[in-house]
Amino acid sequence: MTQDEMKKAAALKALEFIENDTIVGVGTGSTVNHFIDALATIKDKITGAVSSSEESTKRLIAHGIEVFDLNSVDVLDVYVDGADEITEHMAMIKGGGAALTREKIVAAVAHKFICIADSSKQVKLLGDFPLPIEVIPMARSYVAREIVKLGGDPAYRQGVVTDNGNVIIDVHNLEILDPKAMETRINAIVGVVTNGLFALRGADILVLGSSDGVKVIK
Ligand code: A5P
Repeated sequence: MTQDEMKKAAALKALEFIENDTIVGVGTGSTVNHFIDALATIKDKITGAVSSSEESTKRLIAHGIEVFDLNSVDVLDVYVDGADEITEHMAMIKGGGAALTREKIVAAVAHKFICIADSSKQVKLLGDFPLPIEVIPMARSYVAREIVKLGGDPAYRQGVVTDNGNVIIDVHNLEILDPKAMETRINAIVGVVTNGLFALRGADILVLGSSDGVKVIK
């Protein structure tokens, strides 16, 4: 099974968590693209979706799935999204696709976060994948200097502007022994919109595509 086939298998399995007549929180990325395609097959049974990025919104609309503004939605049962890394404690690094802030907002509203991923995303310790941070453009250099003080090596993601008009700093070589503490610490730097650690609000369920099939881990 290829990595993409594992992503697709996990995405299809996630349909089992979607209740009729609900609005579904939808993440961003290549695994989620498979999920959106799968969601289209049951689009007559759901009310619609809330999206975490312009990219996912386009794909949802192309499939004829109605996309709601998060402010008009009171209840969101599930949020389905991928991850760049996930631990056994369900803490994640996200933001490889630069959509981390909207992802974190939609995840905060949802009752359940269902992470869909292929087995390469499972790690013991977070941090091999550079940690993305969304930053207000004028604070870029200041935030980078603060990150150096935390022991990380910041790299400006050239040419990328987020859906919110901000920039991304990717932090390499950061030792993340306590993901919740690090998430809080980085978010406290002035100019940071949010960072890609999803530990304070991690996943509730991991649907993992592997060469042995799809596992559901709670
Ligand atoms: C988008 O900003 C990310 O958080 C994605 O969810 C993450 O990068 C996983 O992407 P893939 O599904 O493409 O691996």
